[in-house]
Amino acid sequence: MNQSIFVKAGTTPAVPILFVNAATFEKTLAGIDDREQVYVRATGYEPKPGRHLIVPKADGTIAGVLFGIEAADEPVKDPFRPGQLVTLLPPGTYRFANAPHDARLAALAFALGAYQFTRYRKAEARNVRLVVPDGVDSNDLTRVAQGVSLTRDLINTPSNDMGPDELEAAARTLAEQHNASFDVTRGNALATEFPLIHAVGKGSPRSPRLIDITWGKDSDPKITLVGKGVCFDTGGLDIKNDTGMLNMKKDMGGGATALGLAHMIMARKLKVRLRVLVAAVENSISGESFRPRDIYKSRKGITVEIGNTDAEGRLVLADALALADDESPALIVDFATLTGAARVALGTELPALFTDDDALAAELFAAGAAEHDPVWRLPLWRPYEAMLDSKIADTNNVSTGGQGGAITAALFLRKFVAAKSWLHLDIFAWNASAKPGRPEGAESQTARALYSMLTKRYGT
Ligand code: BES
Ligand code: MN
Ligand code: ZN
Repeated sequence: MNQSIFVKAGTTPAVPILFVNAATFEKTLAGIDDREQVYVRATGYEPKPGRHLIVPKADGTIAGVLFGIEAADEPVKDPFRPGQLVTLLPPGTYRFANAPHDARLAALAFALGAYQFTRYRKAEARNVRLVVPDGVDSNDLTRVAQGVSLTRDLINTPSNDMGPDELEAAARTLAEQHNASFDVTRGNALATEFPLIHAVGKGSPRSPRLIDITWGKDSDPKITLVGKGVCFDTGGLDIKNDTGMLNMKKDMGGGATALGLAHMIMARKLKVRLRVLVAAVENSISGESFRPRDIYKSRKGITVEIGNTDAEGRLVLADALALADDESPALIVDFATLTGAARVALGTELPALFTDDDALAAELFAAGAAEHDPVWRLPLWRPYEAMLDSKIADTNNVSTGGQGGAITAALFLRKFVAAKSWLHLDIFAWNASAKPGRPEGAESQTARALYSMLTKRYGT
Protein backbone atom coordinates (compact mmCIF):
# COMPACT_ATOMS: atom_id res chain seq x y z
CA MET A 1 0.00 0.00 0.00
CA ASN A 2 1.32 3.41 -0.97
CA GLN A 3 2.58 5.96 1.47
CA SER A 4 0.24 8.88 2.02
CA ILE A 5 1.03 11.84 -0.20
CA PHE A 6 -0.77 14.28 2.07
CA VAL A 7 0.88 16.81 4.37
CA LYS A 8 -0.99 18.90 6.94
CA ALA A 9 -1.40 22.61 6.22
CA GLY A 10 1.25 24.91 7.69
CA THR A 11 3.93 22.26 8.16
CA THR A 12 6.04 22.98 5.05
CA PRO A 13 6.24 25.73 2.45
CA ALA A 14 4.17 24.71 -0.55
CA VAL A 15 4.08 25.71 -4.20
CA PRO A 16 0.65 27.15 -5.11
CA ILE A 17 -1.45 25.52 -7.83
CA LEU A 18 -3.77 28.05 -9.45
CA PHE A 19 -6.80 26.57 -11.20
CA VAL A 20 -7.80 28.55 -14.26
CA ASN A 21 -10.36 28.35 -17.05
CA ALA A 22 -11.26 30.47 -20.06
CA ALA A 23 -13.64 32.60 -18.00
CA THR A 24 -11.31 33.26 -15.03
CA PHE A 25 -7.93 33.37 -16.80
CA GLU A 26 -7.49 37.13 -17.37
CA LYS A 27 -8.58 38.04 -13.87
CA THR A 28 -6.35 35.40 -12.29
CA LEU A 29 -3.40 36.53 -14.38
CA ALA A 30 -3.89 40.15 -13.34
CA GLY A 31 -3.46 39.04 -9.73
CA ILE A 32 0.06 37.60 -10.06
CA ASP A 33 3.52 39.19 -10.17
CA ASP A 34 4.21 41.32 -13.31
CA ARG A 35 7.23 39.35 -14.44
CA GLU A 36 5.34 36.11 -14.02
CA GLN A 37 2.49 37.51 -16.13
CA VAL A 38 4.96 38.31 -18.88
CA TYR A 39 6.29 34.75 -18.70
CA VAL A 40 2.81 33.22 -18.91
CA ARG A 41 1.96 35.36 -21.96
CA ALA A 42 5.29 34.60 -23.60
CA THR A 43 4.65 30.86 -23.40
CA GLY A 44 1.30 31.27 -25.15
CA TYR A 45 -0.31 29.23 -22.38
CA GLU A 46 -4.00 28.53 -22.93
CA PRO A 47 -6.18 27.70 -19.91
CA LYS A 48 -7.72 24.57 -21.45
CA PRO A 49 -8.73 21.63 -19.25
CA GLY A 50 -5.66 19.54 -18.40
CA ARG A 51 -3.02 22.08 -19.59
CA HIS A 52 -0.42 22.98 -17.01
CA LEU A 53 2.34 25.56 -16.83
CA ILE A 54 5.14 25.81 -14.29
CA VAL A 55 5.85 29.50 -13.69
CA PRO A 56 9.34 30.48 -12.48
CA LYS A 57 10.34 33.31 -10.15
CA ALA A 58 13.08 35.76 -11.12
CA ASP A 59 15.59 33.66 -9.16
CA GLY A 60 14.66 30.55 -11.15
CA THR A 61 12.76 28.75 -8.42
CA ILE A 62 9.12 27.77 -8.97
CA ALA A 63 6.61 30.54 -8.23
CA GLY A 64 3.54 28.45 -8.92
CA VAL A 65 1.68 26.20 -11.31
CA LEU A 66 -1.25 27.04 -13.55
CA PHE A 67 -3.67 24.21 -14.28
CA GLY A 68 -6.61 24.41 -16.64
CA ILE A 69 -9.99 23.02 -15.60
CA GLU A 70 -13.47 23.27 -17.13
CA ALA A 71 -15.37 26.56 -16.76
CA ALA A 72 -18.05 26.58 -14.05
CA ASP A 73 -20.84 26.51 -16.63
CA GLU A 74 -19.46 23.51 -18.56
CA PRO A 75 -22.08 20.74 -18.41
CA VAL A 76 -19.49 18.00 -17.89
CA LYS A 77 -16.57 18.41 -15.50
CA ASP A 78 -13.92 15.92 -14.47
CA PRO A 79 -13.46 16.37 -10.71
CA PHE A 80 -10.40 14.07 -10.87
CA ARG A 81 -8.61 16.15 -13.50
CA PRO A 82 -6.23 17.87 -11.03
CA GLY A 83 -4.94 14.38 -10.18
CA GLN A 84 -3.10 14.48 -13.51
CA LEU A 85 -0.62 16.86 -11.87
CA VAL A 86 0.83 14.09 -9.75
CA THR A 87 2.46 12.67 -12.89
CA LEU A 88 3.39 16.07 -14.38
CA LEU A 89 4.97 18.05 -11.55
CA PRO A 90 8.56 17.97 -10.28
CA PRO A 91 9.16 16.67 -6.76
CA GLY A 92 7.92 19.04 -4.10
CA THR A 93 5.05 20.03 -1.86
CA TYR A 94 2.09 21.75 -3.47
CA ARG A 95 -1.15 23.37 -2.32
CA PHE A 96 -4.38 24.43 -3.99
CA ALA A 97 -4.24 28.26 -4.19
CA ASN A 98 -7.90 28.43 -5.24
CA ALA A 99 -10.72 25.93 -5.44
CA PRO A 100 -10.97 23.24 -8.12
CA HIS A 101 -14.46 21.83 -8.84
CA ASP A 102 -14.31 19.60 -5.78
CA ALA A 103 -11.28 19.93 -3.48
CA ARG A 104 -11.86 16.55 -1.79
CA LEU A 105 -12.10 14.62 -5.06
CA ALA A 106 -9.18 16.57 -6.52
CA ALA A 107 -7.03 15.64 -3.51
CA LEU A 108 -8.22 12.03 -3.72
CA ALA A 109 -7.29 11.99 -7.40
CA PHE A 110 -3.74 13.01 -6.42
CA ALA A 111 -3.55 10.03 -4.09
CA LEU A 112 -5.13 7.59 -6.57
CA GLY A 113 -3.07 8.97 -9.47
CA ALA A 114 0.18 8.47 -7.53
CA TYR A 115 -0.32 4.68 -7.50
CA GLN A 116 2.37 2.58 -9.11
CA PHE A 117 2.59 -1.21 -9.29
CA THR A 118 6.12 -1.84 -8.07
CA ARG A 119 6.26 -5.59 -7.43
CA TYR A 120 8.36 -6.40 -10.47
CA ARG A 121 10.34 -3.23 -11.14
CA LYS A 122 11.46 -0.09 -9.36
CA ALA A 123 9.02 2.77 -8.94
CA GLU A 124 9.48 5.85 -11.10
CA ALA A 125 10.94 8.50 -8.85
CA ARG A 126 8.09 10.87 -8.11
CA ASN A 127 7.81 12.87 -4.97
CA VAL A 128 4.80 15.07 -5.22
CA ARG A 129 3.11 15.91 -1.92
CA LEU A 130 -0.12 17.81 -1.46
CA VAL A 131 -1.17 20.02 1.43
CA VAL A 132 -4.57 18.81 2.63
CA PRO A 133 -7.15 21.34 1.40
CA ASP A 134 -9.24 23.13 4.04
CA GLY A 135 -12.13 21.08 5.37
CA VAL A 136 -10.94 17.84 3.77
CA ASP A 137 -10.53 14.74 5.96
CA SER A 138 -7.18 13.38 4.79
CA ASN A 139 -7.43 10.33 7.07
CA ASP A 140 -10.54 9.29 5.20
CA LEU A 141 -8.89 9.89 1.82
CA THR A 142 -5.92 7.80 2.94
CA ARG A 143 -8.20 4.93 3.99
CA VAL A 144 -9.89 5.03 0.60
CA ALA A 145 -6.57 5.22 -1.26
CA GLN A 146 -5.24 2.24 0.73
CA GLY A 147 -8.31 0.19 -0.15
CA VAL A 148 -7.99 1.08 -3.83
CA SER A 149 -4.26 0.30 -3.78
CA LEU A 150 -4.88 -3.11 -2.23
CA THR A 151 -7.44 -3.92 -4.92
CA ARG A 152 -5.13 -2.73 -7.71
CA ASP A 153 -2.10 -4.62 -6.38
CA LEU A 154 -4.07 -7.88 -6.15
CA ILE A 155 -5.42 -7.51 -9.69
CA ASN A 156 -2.15 -6.34 -11.25
CA THR A 157 -0.26 -9.30 -9.79
CA PRO A 158 0.00 -11.93 -12.53
CA SER A 159 -1.69 -15.26 -12.01
CA ASN A 160 1.58 -17.16 -11.43
CA ASP A 161 1.94 -15.13 -8.24
CA MET A 162 -1.79 -14.71 -7.50
CA GLY A 163 -3.49 -18.09 -7.37
CA PRO A 164 -6.13 -19.17 -4.85
CA ASP A 165 -3.36 -19.68 -2.21
CA GLU A 166 -2.03 -16.16 -2.59
CA LEU A 167 -5.50 -14.60 -2.71
CA GLU A 168 -6.30 -16.47 0.49
CA ALA A 169 -3.06 -15.20 2.07
CA ALA A 170 -3.91 -11.62 1.11
CA ALA A 171 -7.40 -11.98 2.63
CA ARG A 172 -5.89 -13.50 5.77
CA THR A 173 -3.44 -10.59 6.13
CA LEU A 174 -6.28 -8.11 5.78
CA ALA A 175 -8.36 -9.97 8.39
CA GLU A 176 -5.41 -10.00 10.81
CA GLN A 177 -4.83 -6.27 10.30
CA HIS A 178 -8.37 -5.56 11.45
CA ASN A 179 -8.81 -8.34 14.02
CA ALA A 180 -11.48 -10.01 11.91
CA SER A 181 -12.20 -13.72 12.06
CA PHE A 182 -11.08 -15.80 9.13
CA ASP A 183 -12.27 -19.11 7.78
CA VAL A 184 -11.56 -21.10 4.61
CA THR A 185 -13.44 -24.08 3.19
CA ARG A 186 -11.63 -26.35 0.73
CA GLY A 187 -11.07 -30.01 -0.21
CA ASN A 188 -13.82 -32.51 0.59
CA ALA A 189 -15.75 -29.97 2.66
CA LEU A 190 -15.82 -27.64 -0.34
CA ALA A 191 -17.00 -30.45 -2.62
CA THR A 192 -19.96 -31.26 -0.37
CA GLU A 193 -20.87 -27.76 0.85
CA PHE A 194 -20.09 -25.68 -2.26
CA PRO A 195 -20.38 -28.06 -5.22
CA LEU A 196 -20.31 -25.37 -7.93
CA ILE A 197 -17.17 -23.68 -6.57
CA HIS A 198 -15.55 -27.09 -6.41
CA ALA A 199 -16.67 -28.01 -9.95
CA VAL A 200 -15.18 -24.85 -11.47
CA GLY A 201 -11.88 -25.13 -9.62
CA LYS A 202 -11.19 -28.85 -9.68
CA GLY A 203 -9.38 -28.78 -13.04
CA SER A 204 -6.52 -26.82 -11.50
CA PRO A 205 -3.74 -28.14 -9.24
CA ARG A 206 -4.21 -24.87 -7.34
CA SER A 207 -7.20 -25.97 -5.30
CA PRO A 208 -10.49 -24.03 -5.15
CA ARG A 209 -11.78 -22.61 -1.87
CA LEU A 210 -14.25 -20.28 -0.23
CA ILE A 211 -12.76 -17.50 1.89
CA ASP A 212 -14.99 -16.18 4.69
CA ILE A 213 -14.09 -13.09 6.75
CA THR A 214 -16.35 -11.71 9.49
CA TRP A 215 -15.83 -8.53 11.48
CA GLY A 216 -17.80 -6.28 13.81
CA LYS A 217 -20.52 -6.69 16.41
CA ASP A 218 -23.21 -9.31 15.81
CA SER A 219 -25.87 -6.85 16.93
CA ASP A 220 -25.00 -4.37 14.14
CA PRO A 221 -26.63 -4.51 10.68
CA LYS A 222 -25.23 -7.37 8.62
CA ILE A 223 -23.54 -6.36 5.36
CA THR A 224 -22.14 -9.14 3.19
CA LEU A 225 -19.76 -8.61 0.27
CA VAL A 226 -19.32 -11.45 -2.21
CA GLY A 227 -16.50 -11.49 -4.76
CA LYS A 228 -15.67 -13.51 -7.85
CA GLY A 229 -12.12 -14.69 -7.28
CA VAL A 230 -11.24 -16.46 -10.52
CA CYS A 231 -7.46 -16.17 -10.35
CA PHE A 232 -7.19 -17.06 -14.02
CA ASP A 233 -9.95 -17.74 -16.50
CA THR A 234 -8.82 -19.88 -19.44
CA GLY A 235 -12.49 -20.46 -20.24
CA GLY A 236 -12.02 -24.09 -19.19
CA LEU A 237 -12.67 -26.76 -21.84
CA ASP A 238 -14.65 -24.10 -23.74
CA ILE A 239 -11.28 -22.42 -24.05
CA LYS A 240 -10.95 -18.71 -24.78
CA ASN A 241 -8.97 -17.47 -27.77
CA ASP A 242 -5.72 -15.53 -27.33
CA THR A 243 -7.19 -12.04 -27.12
CA GLY A 244 -10.01 -13.23 -24.89
CA MET A 245 -7.60 -14.90 -22.46
CA LEU A 246 -4.85 -12.27 -22.44
CA ASN A 247 -6.11 -10.21 -19.51
CA MET A 248 -7.79 -12.92 -17.47
CA LYS A 249 -5.45 -12.51 -14.51
CA LYS A 250 -7.93 -9.79 -13.59
CA ASP A 251 -10.83 -12.25 -13.27
CA MET A 252 -10.41 -12.11 -9.47
CA GLY A 253 -11.16 -8.38 -9.68
CA GLY A 254 -14.49 -8.82 -7.91
CA GLY A 255 -12.83 -10.52 -4.95
CA ALA A 256 -10.09 -7.88 -4.89
CA THR A 257 -12.73 -5.14 -4.93
CA ALA A 258 -14.60 -6.74 -2.02
CA LEU A 259 -11.34 -6.91 -0.01
CA GLY A 260 -10.42 -3.28 -0.79
CA LEU A 261 -13.88 -2.09 0.24
CA ALA A 262 -13.67 -4.24 3.38
CA HIS A 263 -10.44 -2.43 4.28
CA MET A 264 -12.17 0.95 3.97
CA ILE A 265 -15.15 -0.19 6.08
CA MET A 266 -13.05 -1.80 8.83
CA ALA A 267 -10.48 1.02 8.97
CA ARG A 268 -13.35 3.50 9.32
CA LYS A 269 -14.98 1.23 11.94
CA LEU A 270 -18.45 1.54 10.44
CA LYS A 271 -21.24 0.26 12.69
CA VAL A 272 -21.87 -2.91 10.72
CA ARG A 273 -21.30 -6.64 11.07
CA LEU A 274 -19.28 -7.16 7.90
CA ARG A 275 -18.87 -10.45 6.10
CA VAL A 276 -16.69 -10.97 3.03
CA LEU A 277 -16.99 -14.11 0.93
CA VAL A 278 -14.50 -14.68 -1.88
CA ALA A 279 -14.79 -17.76 -4.07
CA ALA A 280 -11.15 -18.30 -5.05
CA VAL A 281 -10.59 -20.70 -7.95
CA GLU A 282 -8.65 -21.12 -11.16
CA ASN A 283 -10.72 -22.01 -14.24
CA SER A 284 -8.19 -24.33 -15.78
CA ILE A 285 -7.95 -27.20 -18.25
CA SER A 286 -7.04 -30.79 -17.33
CA GLY A 287 -8.50 -34.27 -17.16
CA GLU A 288 -10.18 -33.19 -13.94
CA SER A 289 -11.91 -30.15 -15.46
CA PHE A 290 -15.70 -29.82 -15.41
CA ARG A 291 -17.27 -30.31 -18.83
CA PRO A 292 -20.03 -28.93 -21.05
CA ARG A 293 -23.28 -30.81 -20.28
CA ASP A 294 -22.11 -31.88 -16.81
CA ILE A 295 -24.85 -31.35 -14.21
CA TYR A 296 -24.09 -30.30 -10.62
CA LYS A 297 -26.42 -29.86 -7.68
CA SER A 298 -25.66 -26.44 -6.18
CA ARG A 299 -25.44 -25.60 -2.47
CA LYS A 300 -29.01 -24.29 -2.65
CA GLY A 301 -30.23 -27.55 -4.20
CA ILE A 302 -30.84 -26.15 -7.69
CA THR A 303 -29.40 -28.48 -10.36
CA VAL A 304 -27.29 -26.68 -12.96
CA GLU A 305 -26.46 -27.97 -16.42
CA ILE A 306 -23.20 -26.60 -17.78
CA GLY A 307 -23.86 -25.04 -21.17
CA ASN A 308 -20.45 -23.36 -21.26
CA THR A 309 -17.46 -23.79 -18.94
CA ASP A 310 -16.48 -20.17 -19.64
CA ALA A 311 -19.55 -18.98 -17.72
CA GLU A 312 -17.75 -20.00 -14.50
CA GLY A 313 -18.09 -16.77 -12.53
CA ARG A 314 -21.83 -17.12 -12.04
CA LEU A 315 -21.31 -20.70 -10.83
CA VAL A 316 -18.87 -19.82 -8.06
CA LEU A 317 -20.96 -16.80 -7.10
CA ALA A 318 -24.14 -18.90 -6.95
CA ASP A 319 -22.84 -21.03 -4.07
CA ALA A 320 -21.28 -18.05 -2.25
CA LEU A 321 -24.49 -16.03 -2.62
CA ALA A 322 -26.53 -18.94 -1.29
CA LEU A 323 -24.34 -18.97 1.83
CA ALA A 324 -24.59 -15.16 2.18
CA ASP A 325 -28.37 -15.40 1.92
CA ASP A 326 -28.63 -17.98 4.74
CA GLU A 327 -28.32 -15.37 7.49
CA SER A 328 -30.63 -12.84 5.76
CA PRO A 329 -28.25 -9.86 5.96
CA ALA A 330 -29.49 -6.26 5.63
CA LEU A 331 -27.54 -5.99 2.37
CA ILE A 332 -25.73 -8.36 0.02
CA VAL A 333 -23.39 -6.93 -2.63
CA ASP A 334 -21.57 -9.04 -5.17
CA PHE A 335 -18.71 -7.87 -7.38
CA ALA A 336 -17.64 -9.75 -10.47
CA THR A 337 -15.87 -9.40 -13.80
CA LEU A 338 -18.82 -11.45 -14.96
CA THR A 339 -19.63 -10.81 -18.61
CA GLY A 340 -18.17 -9.39 -21.78
CA ALA A 341 -21.77 -8.41 -22.58
CA ALA A 342 -21.82 -5.79 -19.81
CA ARG A 343 -18.85 -4.15 -21.55
CA VAL A 344 -20.57 -4.25 -24.92
CA ALA A 345 -23.57 -2.52 -23.32
CA LEU A 346 -21.80 0.09 -21.19
CA GLY A 347 -18.11 0.14 -22.14
CA THR A 348 -15.23 -0.39 -19.77
CA GLU A 349 -15.71 2.62 -17.47
CA LEU A 350 -19.32 2.12 -16.44
CA PRO A 351 -20.03 -0.90 -14.24
CA ALA A 352 -23.47 -2.46 -14.59
CA LEU A 353 -25.68 -2.50 -11.50
CA PHE A 354 -28.54 -4.96 -11.06
CA THR A 355 -31.09 -4.99 -8.24
CA ASP A 356 -34.82 -5.33 -7.70
CA ASP A 357 -34.67 -2.66 -5.00
CA ASP A 358 -35.38 0.73 -6.65
CA ALA A 359 -34.54 2.77 -3.56
CA LEU A 360 -31.21 0.96 -3.15
CA ALA A 361 -30.40 1.49 -6.84
CA ALA A 362 -31.09 5.22 -6.48
CA GLU A 363 -28.97 5.40 -3.33
CA LEU A 364 -25.95 3.78 -4.98
CA PHE A 365 -26.38 5.71 -8.22
CA ALA A 366 -26.30 9.01 -6.28
CA ALA A 367 -23.26 7.93 -4.24
CA GLY A 368 -21.46 6.85 -7.42
CA ALA A 369 -22.13 10.16 -9.15
CA ALA A 370 -20.98 12.13 -6.09
CA GLU A 371 -17.79 10.07 -5.71
CA HIS A 372 -16.89 10.01 -9.42
CA ASP A 373 -17.21 6.22 -9.20
CA PRO A 374 -20.27 5.74 -11.39
CA VAL A 375 -22.63 2.80 -11.90
CA TRP A 376 -25.42 2.35 -14.43
CA ARG A 377 -28.47 0.22 -13.83
CA LEU A 378 -29.54 -2.59 -16.14
CA PRO A 379 -32.76 -4.53 -15.56
CA LEU A 380 -33.34 -7.96 -14.05
CA TRP A 381 -35.74 -8.48 -16.94
CA ARG A 382 -37.82 -11.50 -15.93
CA PRO A 383 -39.03 -12.55 -19.41
CA TYR A 384 -35.42 -13.39 -20.31
CA GLU A 385 -35.26 -15.97 -17.55
CA ALA A 386 -36.73 -18.53 -19.96
CA MET A 387 -33.50 -18.30 -21.96
CA LEU A 388 -31.75 -20.10 -19.10
CA ASP A 389 -34.03 -23.17 -19.28
CA SER A 390 -32.39 -26.59 -19.42
CA LYS A 391 -34.08 -29.70 -20.86
CA ILE A 392 -32.96 -31.98 -18.03
CA ALA A 393 -31.83 -29.82 -15.07
CA ASP A 394 -33.42 -26.96 -13.10
CA THR A 395 -31.37 -24.41 -15.05
CA ASN A 396 -28.56 -24.00 -17.56
CA ASN A 397 -25.62 -21.73 -16.68
CA VAL A 398 -25.84 -19.91 -20.03
CA SER A 399 -28.68 -18.59 -22.12
CA THR A 400 -29.73 -19.67 -25.57
CA GLY A 401 -29.37 -17.05 -28.26
CA GLY A 402 -26.56 -15.23 -26.49
CA GLN A 403 -28.17 -11.78 -26.55
CA GLY A 404 -28.57 -9.71 -23.36
CA GLY A 405 -25.78 -11.71 -21.75
CA ALA A 406 -25.19 -9.37 -18.78
CA ILE A 407 -28.90 -9.57 -17.91
CA THR A 408 -29.18 -13.35 -18.20
CA ALA A 409 -26.04 -13.76 -16.07
CA ALA A 410 -27.64 -11.53 -13.40
CA LEU A 411 -30.91 -13.50 -13.68
CA PHE A 412 -28.96 -16.70 -13.13
CA LEU A 413 -27.47 -15.26 -9.90
CA ARG A 414 -30.91 -14.11 -8.76
CA LYS A 415 -32.06 -17.73 -8.53
CA PHE A 416 -29.66 -18.17 -5.58
CA VAL A 417 -30.56 -15.06 -3.55
CA ALA A 418 -33.85 -14.48 -1.73
CA ALA A 419 -32.86 -11.18 -0.07
CA LYS A 420 -34.43 -8.12 -1.67
CA SER A 421 -31.52 -5.88 -0.66
CA TRP A 422 -29.11 -7.43 -3.11
CA LEU A 423 -26.82 -5.51 -5.47
CA HIS A 424 -25.00 -7.25 -8.30
CA LEU A 425 -22.13 -5.30 -9.85
CA ASP A 426 -20.69 -6.45 -13.17
CA ILE A 427 -17.34 -4.65 -13.32
CA PHE A 428 -14.34 -4.45 -15.68
CA ALA A 429 -11.72 -3.83 -12.96
CA TRP A 430 -9.24 -2.36 -15.44
CA ASN A 431 -8.31 1.00 -16.98
CA ALA A 432 -7.66 0.41 -20.67
CA SER A 433 -5.70 3.70 -20.73
CA ALA A 434 -4.58 6.21 -18.11
CA LYS A 435 -6.97 8.96 -16.99
CA PRO A 436 -6.56 11.47 -14.14
CA GLY A 437 -6.55 9.51 -10.86
CA ARG A 438 -6.82 6.30 -12.87
CA PRO A 439 -3.48 4.84 -13.97
CA GLU A 440 -3.51 2.26 -16.75
CA GLY A 441 -4.09 -1.27 -15.47
CA ALA A 442 -6.02 -2.67 -12.52
CA GLU A 443 -8.81 -0.52 -11.13
CA SER A 444 -11.18 -0.55 -8.19
CA GLN A 445 -14.70 0.16 -9.46
CA THR A 446 -17.82 0.75 -7.31
CA ALA A 447 -16.01 0.33 -3.95
CA ARG A 448 -15.74 4.07 -3.30
CA ALA A 449 -19.40 4.55 -4.22
CA LEU A 450 -20.42 1.81 -1.78
CA TYR A 451 -18.10 3.11 0.93
CA SER A 452 -19.73 6.52 0.66
CA MET A 453 -23.23 4.99 0.72
CA LEU A 454 -22.41 2.83 3.76
CA THR A 455 -20.67 5.69 5.59
CA LYS A 456 -23.80 7.81 5.21
CA ARG A 457 -25.86 4.95 6.62
CA TYR A 458 -23.59 3.53 9.30
CA GLY A 459 -20.92 6.16 10.05
CA THR A 460 -20.79 7.85 13.41
N1 BES B 1 -14.48 -13.42 -17.00
C1 BES B 1 -15.33 -13.53 -18.12
C2 BES B 1 -16.02 -12.24 -18.49
C3 BES B 1 -15.17 -11.10 -18.96
C4 BES B 1 -14.44 -11.18 -20.13
C5 BES B 1 -15.15 -9.93 -18.23
C6 BES B 1 -13.70 -10.11 -20.54
C7 BES B 1 -14.41 -8.86 -18.64
C8 BES B 1 -13.67 -8.96 -19.81
C9 BES B 1 -16.41 -14.56 -17.86
O1 BES B 1 -16.06 -15.64 -17.07
C10 BES B 1 -16.82 -15.09 -19.19
O2 BES B 1 -16.00 -15.72 -19.81
N2 BES B 1 -18.06 -14.84 -19.60
C11 BES B 1 -18.54 -15.26 -20.86
C12 BES B 1 -19.92 -15.83 -20.67
C13 BES B 1 -20.44 -16.60 -21.86
C14 BES B 1 -19.68 -17.90 -22.01
C15 BES B 1 -21.92 -16.87 -21.65
C16 BES B 1 -18.58 -14.05 -21.79
O3 BES B 1 -18.90 -12.95 -21.33
O4 BES B 1 -18.26 -14.21 -22.95
MN1 MN C 1 -15.18 -17.23 -18.17
ZN1 ZN D 1 -14.53 -15.32 -15.76
